[in-house]
Amino acid sequence: MRNRYLIANWKMNLPPEGMRPYLDAVGRAEMNDVEIVVAPPFPYLRDVTRAPDRIFAGAQNCADQKSGAFTGEVSAWMLQELGVRYALVGHSERRALYGETDALLQRKLTAALEANLTPVLCVGEDLRVREAGHVARHLAEQIRAVTTPALESAREVVIAYEPVWAIGTGRSASGAMVAETVADIRDALARFWPVRYRDDAPILYGGSVTPDNVTDLQTNGGMDGYLVGGASLSSEKFLAIFDAMKVS
Ligand code: PGA
Repeated sequence: MRNRYLIANWKMNLPPEGMRPYLDAVGRAEMNDVEIVVAPPFPYLRDVTRAPDRIFAGAQNCADQKSGAFTGEVSAWMLQELGVRYALVGHSERRALYGETDALLQRKLTAALEANLTPVLCVGEDLRVREAGHVARHLAEQIRAVTTPALESAREVVIAYEPVWAIGTGRSASGAMVAETVADIRDALARFWPVRYRDDAPILYGGSVTPDNVTDLQTNGGMDGYLVGGASLSSEKFLAIFDAMKVS
């Protein structure tokens, strides 16, 4: 059985209802086998580590180095010491807006693993790649490019499949489309990473997930969870997505 996750990516936002009421509401959710991770902007991580027991803290990014003269960076080891469990690596906004390259992401993935964080590696194609029919090749290349010896002894790596054209656009992929792409990702994991990742790595979907489309993704996409941006800023919507995951 793979682990299942629901991850809130607040990006550079805070929930309008206030962080404490949000965390209290989510913390009251009925237990099930889905792990809830909240990824706030850096200054709020400590608050999330102190939230009710069942909520885990995730960072939206981490540095590729352990320490040193890297102004503005936060290392995976610092996050680990703070009680953070997860770190997003290679979110498409980091790749596109901040020029994060595959070589940098390979070092970030290595750093996160060496610091004992569970990385959430984000991969996904833009519309041009999808329309050209090159999705499988593109995702395989993103996975191959970050291969690191640290994967050998890692406990877990979570993959988030986030098509760029679906992020923040209100245009989600369908469950059927995602199911096909998940199979491509598992093939790439088997080819380039230690082979156990093919079956063991949880694969999440992200890109305009809402309480309205999660059932299709859940039923037809066979996802191990979701990385949610916009809809994660409301505890009510986030919990509705969580509830939809229970029925499967
Ligand atoms: P979205 O963001 O749910 O607002 O599309 C998802 C993400 O970027 O992780």
